[in-house]
Amino acid sequence: MELTRRAPQEREHEKKLLAAHEAAHFYFRQALRGTDPGKAAAQYLAGRGIIPATVEKFGLGYAPAFPDGLLGYLRKKGFTDQEAVAAGLVIDHERGLFDRFRDRLMIPIRDGKGRAIAFAGRAMRAQQPAKYMNSPTTALFDKGDTLFALDVAKAAVRRKSEAVIVEGQFDAIAAHQAGFDNVVASMGTALTAGQYRILDDLRIEKAVVAFDGDVAGTTQAEKRGRELAAIVQRHVSRAGRRGTVAARTGLGVYVAVLPQGTDPDVLARTDPDRLRAALAGADPVLAFVIEQIRKRSDLAAPDGRRRFLADTLPLLADEPDPLTREVYLGTLSRHAGVGEAALREQLASRPAAPAQPPEQRPVEPAAAAAAPGERSGPTERYLMAQLLQFPEEAAHLDLDPEELADPDHRAIFELIRAGERPGPRYPARLAALAAALGASTPQPVDEDHAARAVEMLALRLRAENVRRRMSGVQAELLRGSGEVGTLMDRLTVLRDDLAWLMREQERDTVLRTAENEDE
Ligand code: UTP
Ligand code: MN
Repeated sequence: MELTRRAPQEREHEKKLLAAHEAAHFYFRQALRGTDPGKAAAQYLAGRGIIPATVEKFGLGYAPAFPDGLLGYLRKKGFTDQEAVAAGLVIDHERGLFDRFRDRLMIPIRDGKGRAIAFAGRAMRAQQPAKYMNSPTTALFDKGDTLFALDVAKAAVRRKSEAVIVEGQFDAIAAHQAGFDNVVASMGTALTAGQYRILDDLRIEKAVVAFDGDVAGTTQAEKRGRELAAIVQRHVSRAGRRGTVAARTGLGVYVAVLPQGTDPDVLARTDPDRLRAALAGADPVLAFVIEQIRKRSDLAAPDGRRRFLADTLPLLADEPDPLTREVYLGTLSRHAGVGEAALREQLASRPAAPAQPPEQRPVEPAAAAAAPGERSGPTERYLMAQLLQFPEEAAHLDLDPEELADPDHRAIFELIRAGERPGPRYPARLAALAAALGASTPQPVDEDHAARAVEMLALRLRAENVRRRMSGVQAELLRGSGEVGTLMDRLTVLRDDLAWLMREQERDTVLRTAENEDE
């Protein structure tokens, strides 16, 4: 949270929300100890090798399955329903209020001062559609501006002048338990510009981003490396540090690749020495990206060398620090067998782009094929059809109604989610639409796969929407309307969103149950 001066009532409001989080946190911790399903969750933690001291240190808890247990508790503690909703702890539906987190293992997300500002809830049953459910953006919390575990890691980060960034909350928790005390988690996205800034503000030298082994050697690795490099380069050029050799050039980002098939969580528990070695062997992000490109290039062939340079030179053109540029110019020269002078000339003659152009992804043909006059695309209609067939999935679905383009779809979604199935209580127009959607269901999925199918469709829809927003921003950039820095920031956020959504779509969400979860 920034320290800008704010209106007193705004500060009052934030204080209230913090207090609501504190109360909720107490409630979740009590439930972990004092209820049977809570004890099962504690058992699950023990099964993951998490010791009681760690449970305490991270304040882990459990959200019971009742629809309104926390709501009742918060009311008893004097919070208004509005406050409970504004805190993101309770969901407001036309049909009433209910707890956002139900039957989940609860991980408080704390600010730098250790105050809970949000929660992440991990599903405890396979039937829950999203494995992790996070608090929404609130006055206290913005995921892209928050690093999980920063409160417990900060002192060590400063002392070591180095932070290690892992993806998941449990990666960070396990790492801390194993003695890696400078680890923070980005919570599912690649490091965002906001998270980078938080670390840069600590005036440390090194941020080591740990990539899971299965990312290495895939196009994902190069893509994510490029994203990281772009964040640093933009930050550095915006900060106006260009050319001043004595000035700090900005926090250096490094990439550590973990052994195939492991993640920091597993490695911290089973082979901490290998984790330590992997982190120590991290490469500067530019070196990492260049190496990824080198590996997929055919440097024996002249054309391969030419393409290698075409792919790598833009990286250097975007590099604001002249010394860094020189260092990697040497690297490229060696790999491609082209003299440094020639490369330098190439760089100089390259038209100064504000930053590397964002990836152009064609709009999915499916989305473009929406019949004229229809406000939504086929994905949205298919999702609606599935939801009408399996209305019980709607309640858990991680989908903001705003993602639906058609206001009628939005209305139906809200009705279904509130437990109102299509019927006589529906306004006639919506009832007719629901019937039409139901009739158009292409391939009914069987019940066992309904949750996954619905979740996949929602992810696909969200990804389509993000792509559309990206195209909008790109168009603005091309038109030259709007401030470039702001637009690029927006693109970075959208690209992170998209990357996360794509990974979620690839993710195998078949969850193991607590007892045979052994990773
Ligand atoms: P993973 O699915 O890799 O989870 O997501 P994990 O950390 O290995 O989880 P465990 O070990 O099964 O408990 C990585 C991170 O992505 C975010 C979370 O921060 C998670 O830790 N995520 C994942 C979400 O925010 N939402 C999701 O639905 C899934
Ligand atoms: Mn894991």
